Amino acid sequence: MRYKLVIASLLGIVLIVPAAVLAQDDAYRQKMDDAQDAKDDLMDALDHKSGPKAAEATAKMTKIVQETKQFWAAKKMADIVKLADASLAALDEMNKLAASGKIDQSKAAFQKIGDTCSACHDAHPEKRPAGK
Ligand code: HEC
Repeated sequence: MRYKLVIASLLGIVLIVPAAVLAQDDAYRQKMDDAQDAKDDLMDALDHKSGPKAAEATAKMTKIVQETKQFWAAKKMADIVKLADASLAALDEMNKLAASGKIDQSKAAFQKIGDTCSACHDAHPEKRPAGK
């Protein structure tokens, strides 16, 4: 009886833990997909020279990258947190341009955002064991 309980508990742990880790990754990927959608919206807004729409899309990306930053901060990956900060700085620059309607000057800022997204992807933090 007791052994059955122990075995059941162990099985529970074996089954639940990987499921939780995978669920977390799915949530993370979903957020990144949302960031990509917002980045596409931002490009559209810039093409149509819409400051308010550009600001809205930038705000969405900022929120996601802030959450991303917290995610890696919790895993104690300081260099990845720095890459998130660089992305936030680029988004802040875009936000200021969008808010003041300086769409014509935003090309470089948009490019910089893309570069900071790629810098983190190239670092592949998802392939590292936590804390390394
Ligand atoms: C601080 C790190 C970091 C930053 C900044 C970052 N990403 Fe990511 N992103 C990741 C990681 C890590 C993955 C891979 C997740 C995985 O496969 O487990 C990823 C994956 C993605 C994916 C693929 C998602 C999928 O369904 O597999 C997209 C799209 C994406 N990111 C878009 C963006 C965009 C757009 C930005 C900039 C606004 C951005 N990311 C900024 C870390 C980052």
